[in-house]
Amino acid sequence: MVGNMLLLLLPFFAGAFSAPLTRRALPSGVPDYVTKYAPIVYLYSTDPYRPSDIGAQLTNTQPEINYTAITPSAVPLTLDNLNSSLSSYSGSNIYLTSTSDITTSPAWLNGVPPNSDGETEGAVSCAIIVNDHGSGLVDAFYMYFYAFNYGGDYFDFIIGDHVGDWEHNMVRFQDGVPTAVWYSQHSNGEAFTYKTVQKWTDGLRPIVFSANGSHANYAISGTHDHTIPDINLPAGPVEDHTDNGPIWGTPSDHYLDTSTSPLKFTPPVDPTLSAYYYTYTAANATFASYDSHTPVDWLYFTGHWGDEQYPDSDPRQQTIFDISGLYKYTSGPTGPEDKQLNRTDVCPANSDPCILRTVLGS
Ligand SMILES: *[C@@H]1O[C@H](CO)[C@@H](O)[C@H](O)[C@H]1NC(C)=O
Ligand SMILES: *[C@@H]1O[C@H](CO)[C@@H](O)[C@H](O)[C@H]1NC(C)=O
Ligand SMILES: *[C@@H]1O[C@H](CO)[C@@H](O)[C@H](O)[C@H]1NC(C)=O
Ligand SMILES: *[C@@H]1O[C@H](CO)[C@@H](O)[C@H](O)[C@H]1NC(C)=O
Ligand SMILES: *[C@@H]1O[C@H](CO)[C@@H](O)[C@H](O)[C@H]1NC(C)=O
Repeated sequence: MVGNMLLLLLPFFAGAFSAPLTRRALPSGVPDYVTKYAPIVYLYSTDPYRPSDIGAQLTNTQPEINYTAITPSAVPLTLDNLNSSLSSYSGSNIYLTSTSDITTSPAWLNGVPPNSDGETEGAVSCAIIVNDHGSGLVDAFYMYFYAFNYGGDYFDFIIGDHVGDWEHNMVRFQDGVPTAVWYSQHSNGEAFTYKTVQKWTDGLRPIVFSANGSHANYAISGTHDHTIPDINLPAGPVEDHTDNGPIWGTPSDHYLDTSTSPLKFTPPVDPTLSAYYYTYTAANATFASYDSHTPVDWLYFTGHWGDEQYPDSDPRQQTIFDISGLYKYTSGPTGPEDKQLNRTDVCPANSDPCILRTVLGS
């Protein structure tokens, strides 16, 4: 029933979303293939935690070490001074900690839904980082930021919620031609040849399905078990759920709320429309922007983009069956600099062997 209805609606949606996307002027010097082959990201239809402004994380948090506020050398903290203002502290011990109690669901955790062009208006929610290895080999990282990660259900308990969430794709190019795509999923992910992955209506841009709440990135929609890293099982105790609007894959009744009028449909995100653009030079571990006004300093911050895991004594914290490791609230993640920006393989080094998949869903 729902399937038939979607087929009828398909021309409407396809028409609405295959129009050329309005592109903001790119900083000059960004290779055209970096945007031409940039991923298109389908958020889970009812995921309340949408992409978020990277800089807004600094206005909604304060830096803490060991649950105690620390004093930056300059205030307010901005993306232009995040690392340098905190450079007298050991970066990796710093947690950007919510100034409001997150169990009261402050609105900023929800981020910004994409508009019909796929832009998260008013929120720069992506950092695109280009590593030119030389000899025509170029890796482009598309780093997606969300203010909150909902960890998911584990036998009806919620585990792994945290403030701040960084996920990414990486597209590898040889001489401007895309050859492979990495999809980050939790602490690991999956690599596919470019040819294998589903493409946007232009036949060029890889399609990504972002999991409900965890924002893990998958190449196909549906349910993904992530109990065993690296292996994408159809069902299991720890599941990610993805869906995709009517255009791709098998329609499922939960991506589109047919009880609403007009029908509720979330367009996919075009990350290139709400991004900062950078280069990364591995030889001197240096980031640079393509223009003079894009903030760079924050990329050197080695601390965490959310609260430190609440201690057992914190009334908000819960463990499941007293199993340490199964905490309701875990620590916020580190940022783009910690995602292995200078890769030999398409996978990060902890994904060994790097399986370059040629079949979807394996
Ligand atoms: C954190 O603070 C507590 C209480 O002040 C102290 O006992 C503990 O040693 C500190 N931990 C670290 C890693 O500094
Ligand atoms: C970033 O901060 C660290 C200290 O946490 C400091 O060692 C480093 O020099 C800073 N990097 C830049 C580029 O400011
Ligand atoms: C999606 O996440 C929300 C919480 O953000 C949760 O309430 C809902 O059950 C999840 N849906 C699925 C299908 O897991
Ligand atoms: C960066 O990666 C390349 C392999 O693509 C390697 O040859 C080079 O040594 C690495 N550079 C650094 C600084 O790690
Ligand atoms: C790092 O290397 C790049 C490429 O050689 C160069 O353009 C840049 O100036 C260097 N940056 C620093 C801080 O040394």
